[in-house]
Amino acid sequence: MSQTVICPGSFDPVTLGHLDIITRASRMFGKVVVAVLVNSSKTPTFSTEERIELLREAAQGLDNIEIVSFEGLLAEYCKKCGIGTIVKGLRAVSDFEYEFQMAIANKKLNPELETIFLTADSDSTFLSSSMVREIGSMGGDISNFVPACVHDRIVRRLRK
Ligand code: PNS
Repeated sequence: MSQTVICPGSFDPVTLGHLDIITRASRMFGKVVVAVLVNSSKTPTFSTEERIELLREAAQGLDNIEIVSFEGLLAEYCKKCGIGTIVKGLRAVSDFEYEFQMAIANKKLNPELETIFLTADSDSTFLSSSMVREIGSMGGDISNFVPACVHDRIVRRLRK
C-alpha cells in the first residue's frame, strides 16, 4: 500500500514493543511517520533529541520511516501534513478505553482521520516505557525490553 500513516507516541524511551508496531506498520504501508510528542507540560526523562536519536538508531533497517517531533494536537499535525491514518499498538484490554477515547477525540477534531490498532506482539503485552525507566534506573536488566542497538545508551542514561 502506498499510503502514509503516522505512529505517534512519547517514546520515552523506545521499547521493543514500539519497534514491533513500527516495523509491522512499515511492511503494511508505503511510509510511516514516527512522531515524537514534545509535551511542554510534562518533563520526559529523555529529551526530544535523545528520543529521536534512539528511534533513529533502533529503526535503522527500515527505509520507509521518517522520524519527526510534534507539538500540540495530533489531529492538527495530521491535518497539516495531509496524513489520514494513525497506527497504534494495543497491548491489553487496559489500553483499550484510553485508546478508544483518543481515537474518537481525534476523529471529532479531524473527521478525515482514522485510527488503526495493531495487537501487540505477545512478548510486548506487559511492556511500557515507564517500566523500562523504573527497572533501568534501579539497575535491573532491561535487555529483553529495549532494542539491542540502543540498550547500553539507555542504561547509561537511566543510571545517571
Ligand atoms: O506513547 P503515548 O504517551 O501513549 O502517546 C500518546 C500520544 C502522544 C499519542 C498522545 O498523548 C497524543 O496524541 N498527544 C498529543 C496531544 C493530543 O492530540 N491530545 C488529544 C488526543 S485525545
